[in-house]
Amino acid sequence: MNNLSAVILAAGEGKRMKSKHSKVLHKICDKPMVECVYDTVKNAGIQECILVVGHKSAQVKEFMRDRTKYALQQQQLGTGHAVLQTENLFEQKDGYVVVLCGDTPLITEETIRLCIDYHIKNVYAATVITAELDQPTGYGRIVRDVNGNVLKIVEQKDASEEEKEIKEINSGMYCFTIIDLFNSLKKISNNNSQGEYYLTDTLEILIKEGKSVGAIKVPDSAEIMGVNSRAQLAEAQYLMNQRILNKHMSKGVTIIDTNSTYVSYDAIIGMDTIIYPGTVISGKTLIGEDCIIGPNTTINESNIFNNVTITDSVLIESKVCENSKIGPFAYLRPNSVIGENVKIGDFVEIKNSKIGDNTKISHLSYVGDAEVGNNVNLGCGTVIVNYDGIQKHKTIIEDNVFVGCNSNLISPLVLRKNSYVGAGSTITDEVPQNALAIARSRQTNIKDWVLKRK
Ligand code: UD1
Ligand code: CA
Repeated sequence: MNNLSAVILAAGEGKRMKSKHSKVLHKICDKPMVECVYDTVKNAGIQECILVVGHKSAQVKEFMRDRTKYALQQQQLGTGHAVLQTENLFEQKDGYVVVLCGDTPLITEETIRLCIDYHIKNVYAATVITAELDQPTGYGRIVRDVNGNVLKIVEQKDASEEEKEIKEINSGMYCFTIIDLFNSLKKISNNNSQGEYYLTDTLEILIKEGKSVGAIKVPDSAEIMGVNSRAQLAEAQYLMNQRILNKHMSKGVTIIDTNSTYVSYDAIIGMDTIIYPGTVISGKTLIGEDCIIGPNTTINESNIFNNVTITDSVLIESKVCENSKIGPFAYLRPNSVIGENVKIGDFVEIKNSKIGDNTKISHLSYVGDAEVGNNVNLGCGTVIVNYDGIQKHKTIIEDNVFVGCNSNLISPLVLRKNSYVGAGSTITDEVPQNALAIARSRQTNIKDWVLKRK
């Protein structure tokens, strides 16, 4: 569908957020609100997108980059004025445009599609998405005639006492026929209580010109919720999180406690994976099938293959291959790649390292800047001493190496295939294939020392 575009309004100041950052860049479920709206636009099948920026426009552009076109609204003179700034960016004026707000992240692609289809089918000049609210205060109200036809939208601050009683509100989201939109926008004035050019006034203008205007009511008013404050951000976060969890559960993921599980907008989770309480999955994390995740686990921007168990652990920008077990109490820092059937046990920290298949690092170890082969055993308390105070160095541990407990491996270092390191060693030089390296002083027993001490 190429005669369809979207305009997302994001020029407003967002004063009530009390923030140094643009309001639309505040995240819900680990995704900036404006990107939630943008993704929904794309998922609804709309290719062309224009973002109206103004306040903190540099921040917004820096984040969205060239995914969208931009119209700059220098001064925030109202939503109608904002949309008017996009006029020159429309190459074709014979299509339809969906207007959305950057601070309404819960709108769904289904609702956008319904609105577009309803608009086109009924040959409306404008179609507004509405909702019925028990507490409509603050929103524009939909004024209808006795036959139920839309007459106009009146803002809270301009509404009469009678109009304030209306429970049907304007979501601030619409589909317009492009020609009708710009023709009517040129006729709006700022003669209202806020001295702003209201986009909402275009509806009354179009109706007075004999055009027809539609309204489509969403059954779930959560969809049209606008975020203006931190409290509303928390509410939107809660609603979006529940929606995401429901989506995963409907696809076969078990979530033990939906109140203490947080899953990002972009995460993908496979069937029959079980997620225990206190788990936070953020960023573009991919989790396979049959995994057991949690309790109390944080996984950010990571790739977890099938049948992996992760208990009470933190993983950042890491990869864990099939059948491996992580934790309890493990910490995988960025660029850790864990092979298949590996055990990373309690109080083990891995950083920027590759761990081969069938390897065990079961307790109390630090592995940084290392390449560890297959079938290796790093005993309890193995420490890779990768930092000399100035530089980081690399350690290579080849296949089938066995490192005894409480050993220091001073980098740069290579432990060749099948070699052993005696417990309590501090290893500074390469260990050859099949060798045993012991680097500690020999034990001496002083006979009857205790008796003689007195
Ligand atoms: C607007 C609607 C109201 C509706 C409500 C739904 C108007 C006049 N009113 O009111 O009927 O119920 O949304 O949430 O449209 N913006 C700009 N430039 C501006 C002004 C606003 O880009 O000059 C952007 C804001 O960044 C925001 C959106 O437009 O994303 C809505 O603006 P806001 O000031 O929040 O409008 P409301 O008063 O909430
Ligand atoms: Ca608003």
